[in-house]
Amino acid sequence: MPRVDLKPDQWLERPALARETYERMTHEGILIAALDPAGKLNPMTIGWGLFGLIWGRPLFQVLVRPSRYTYGCIEHIGDYTVNVMPRELKTAVAFCGSESGRDYDKLAEMDLNVLPSRHIKSGGIAEADIVFECRVVHVNDVREPTFPAEIISNYYPDGDFHRVYFGQILAVSVRAEFLKRIG
Ligand SMILES: Cc1cc2nc3c(=O)[nH]c(=O)nc-3n(C[C@H](O)[C@H](O)[C@H](O)COP(=O)(O)O)c2cc1C
Repeated sequence: MPRVDLKPDQWLERPALARETYERMTHEGILIAALDPAGKLNPMTIGWGLFGLIWGRPLFQVLVRPSRYTYGCIEHIGDYTVNVMPRELKTAVAFCGSESGRDYDKLAEMDLNVLPSRHIKSGGIAEADIVFECRVVHVNDVREPTFPAEIISNYYPDGDFHRVYFGQILAVSVRAEFLKRIG
């Protein structure tokens, strides 16, 4: 599957790529992937995230609850990839959003392959339309006292407050056929 590399801040200026990333993240979900301590790449579905420039750096910010296996992986390795998956692979996205890397090798179960990264340790997913390599440059925890009560009752009835990872985008790889199609 031929791929094209874009500069980390170049993709933000391509509205079609930003729109596809946003739409898929908000509708079916996209995958973040981080290496576990045993060297297995663990993908997890996310529906929330922000991208843009902060501190003069292109960032892809993601929110992960401490109860996720992924949390320990990112804490251990300090980086992650963000993978925008083709819509045809929605079964895999759903699986990665309902099963845990504690119980499964999710990539093997879903017949997905690793795309080696250039700048970080965690790999991407070879089948993804877009892969962002992100290194953690900052973390921030969601804290109860700073939130309106309805957000706490809707999203944190049992605690498990998200940790927000600020990942600097170091590389962007796009599937060539997808890039040609969306422009
Ligand atoms: C559409 C969708 C979006 C999700 N978004 C998030 C998210 O942003 N943060 C999070 O911590 N969990 C999110 N989850 C839940 C995790 O993907 C799920 O608990 C997963 O099984 C955790 O895998 P892990 O234990 O291998 O890390 C989402 C699940 C779905 C289906």
